Amino acid sequence: MANANAEIGVIGGSGFYSFLEDVTEVEVDTPYGKPSDSLFLGEIAGRRVAFLPRHGRGHHLPPHRINYRANMWALRSVGARQVLGPCAVGGLRVEYGPGTLLVPDQLVDRTKARAQTFYDGETPVDGKLPNVVHMTFADPYCPDGRRAALAAARGREWEPVDGGTLVVIEGPRFSTRAESRWHAAAGWSVVGMTGHPEAVLARELGLCYTSLTLVTDLDAGAETGEGVSHEEVLKVFGANVDRLRDVLFDAVAGLPADEARDCLCSHALDGIDTGIALP
Ligand code: ADE
Repeated sequence: MANANAEIGVIGGSGFYSFLEDVTEVEVDTPYGKPSDSLFLGEIAGRRVAFLPRHGRGHHLPPHRINYRANMWALRSVGARQVLGPCAVGGLRVEYGPGTLLVPDQLVDRTKARAQTFYDGETPVDGKLPNVVHMTFADPYCPDGRRAALAAARGREWEPVDGGTLVVIEGPRFSTRAESRWHAAAGWSVVGMTGHPEAVLARELGLCYTSLTLVTDLDAGAETGEGVSHEEVLKVFGANVDRLRDVLFDAVAGLPADEARDCLCSHALDGIDTGIALP
């Protein structure tokens, strides 16, 4: 793979299909199958970046059909060790209306049928089965990545919400009003469909992962209208995509150098024998 090296991965969400201008397109295969699309490799502020459109170009993959394992493996295989994952979400509180940028510090998994571990006891890598691994996941996001994302948003005069809980539902349907009120009553902040298992798979590969959630709508329990529509989500995401791209550019530039990483994610695999060779 010519030039197939990157230190940072960016996974684009709904309405976010291209990121960098001068790119090398690289097709990657993994023990888990194909990622959502090719990787697009380029440079930001002297940092090598691999961009991957989460839903594929043209948005043909619904959240529950995304091959999250292949996506994370592919990013690591080109060298990425820090990943930024912007995604569209619904706000669970009226104060988190459309256009809010929230950088969560916690995650609740309400997905139902997604492969969410590399250490599944059944998928061989280079002919070897993985060992049983129980990953520590109390704090799902990279503290350094969060700091870079928050500083980047502030630098662009887009005051972010610092922290909060992202609840990830299976989709592809949106929540009922009762589900949505339940999520809000539990104290969770925003709801999306793709932030998991991305976060745990990153951790299982020792990658730093930072979620940047862009609120595109008030979820059913927080609004009094007809409920959320996909059209509304894409419209609001589209209206914010340029400033989100600016924030991501600055966040990339603000991430620690590879050799300076010393966060919990960078040590996630210390002392663990995975049984398989990671790319
Ligand atoms: N993505 C964008 N808005 C959403 C919502 N309200 N629920 C789940 N995922 C979403």
